[in-house]
Amino acid sequence: MTVPVIAIDGPSASGKGTVAARVASELGFHLLDSGALYRLTAVAAMQAGIALDDEAALEVIAVSLNVRFADSMTWLSGAEVSEQMRGEAASVGASKVAVFAGVRQALLARQQSFRRLPGLVADGRDMGSVVFPDATLKVFLTASVEVRAQRRYKQLIEKGLSANLESLSQDLRERDERDRNRVCAPLVQLPDAILLDTSSMPVNAAVQHVLDAWEKVKAG
Ligand code: DC
Repeated sequence: MTVPVIAIDGPSASGKGTVAARVASELGFHLLDSGALYRLTAVAAMQAGIALDDEAALEVIAVSLNVRFADSMTWLSGAEVSEQMRGEAASVGASKVAVFAGVRQALLARQQSFRRLPGLVADGRDMGSVVFPDATLKVFLTASVEVRAQRRYKQLIEKGLSANLESLSQDLRERDERDRNRVCAPLVQLPDAILLDTSSMPVNAAVQHVLDAWEKVKAG
């Protein structure tokens, strides 16, 4: 039996992580936050003092990544890194290590192993194009840079961290550029993906859109 997959791709800070988690919970499906694996590769590389442009060394790090996800927390080689992996350094680092084909290949089978019954919601950049090209439903979830920067700003301030709206916008623009223009598995809106622009849409509405689309696909 083919395990159903809902692929949710889109740019950084578009809210796809939140939407994916809510959809997975509603449907009782497994969840793959593929960005976490790129973030953890960057964190592990930084901890090991490896330059973020050293493809061969990064590939070794990605292959041997020792991670554990449980109860919304993440451990890297036994140490909790839940906060660190969400920080700006890990975000920027992730988009740098993600340009390398060797790193992407090293993480491919690990991502595909999340595909288990009763189904999977996978969020990332290439879920529908490379990792699960046969996904049952493909969604391209986006929002304007301004809205994404605002959301990120709010998250950081709520966590008591310092943040600057202008530099967040600039970081997002640069990350978008890298994610869209890289040669290997760039972020694209696939022709068979439904477009969901959440710039002026609350999370609940975005979740409902995906659930409605899922019901439609299931009904054939
Ligand atoms: O979704 P995120 O912000 O956690 O992703 C962090 C970075 O990882 C993003 O800038 C690009 C990269 N990434 C990727 O290249 N492919 C994926 N499937 C997921 C993330």
